[in-house]
Amino acid sequence: MNAAAPVVTLDGPSGAGKGTVSRAVAQKLGWHYLDSGAIYRALAVDLMHRGLESRNEPAVVDAAGRMDLEFVFNPGFSVMLSGKDISSSIQSEACGNQASRLAAMPGVRKALLEKQRGFRKPPGLVADGRDMGTVVFPDARFKFFLTASPQIRAERRVKQLKEKGMNVNLDKIITELLERDQRDENREAAPLRQADGAIFIDSSEMTIDQVVERVTHAVRGH
Ligand code: DC
Repeated sequence: MNAAAPVVTLDGPSGAGKGTVSRAVAQKLGWHYLDSGAIYRALAVDLMHRGLESRNEPAVVDAAGRMDLEFVFNPGFSVMLSGKDISSSIQSEACGNQASRLAAMPGVRKALLEKQRGFRKPPGLVADGRDMGTVVFPDARFKFFLTASPQIRAERRVKQLKEKGMNVNLDKIITELLERDQRDENREAAPLRQADGAIFIDSSEMTIDQVVERVTHAVRGH
């Protein structure tokens, strides 16, 4: 039953606009939404709350398997860890960078695989991340690879964080973004790469609405 539900995957580097685009596409289609990055980010928060060393790989893998995580749509999007709303704490760059380090651990990815596949339910799922089309949902009906130039991605990220009242520096964001790209693309386990058959979209010169239109059109057109 679950396996029959259609999936749209959007993979790409950080700051490419995948989250905003995926949420809008899911809303337009009336489908479920999986923010897989939020799962890795929540793990970073979980370890911090429990005072666990991120270098202790067996403990991290164990924590990943036990995490009590829930996504709530109300109609905004909240991430609940053990019943507590952690939506704001997972948005920081520090949390994203730590998530990227944890995500390089093969045991962690394995522990989170079924959790992610559990989001696949009728009428369909829009999933955003790094390995949605390559590893988690290789049989997805529609695959997209969304990217933009590092400068544009960093500028968008700065704007987004400033709107949330966070104090950020563009140069630092670019440096960290490139470091994160390096780590996500070069790790052994499920590295970020364009899935076979994925549609490539460079959003550097596009508005979010144009990207949403492009993705929804491709999905509805079939
Ligand atoms: O998409 P994001 O910035 O919220 O993701 C945070 C980190 O989590 C990202 O740098 C790498 C990791 N991640 C991953 O390895 N696989 C995914 N499917 C999603 C995120």
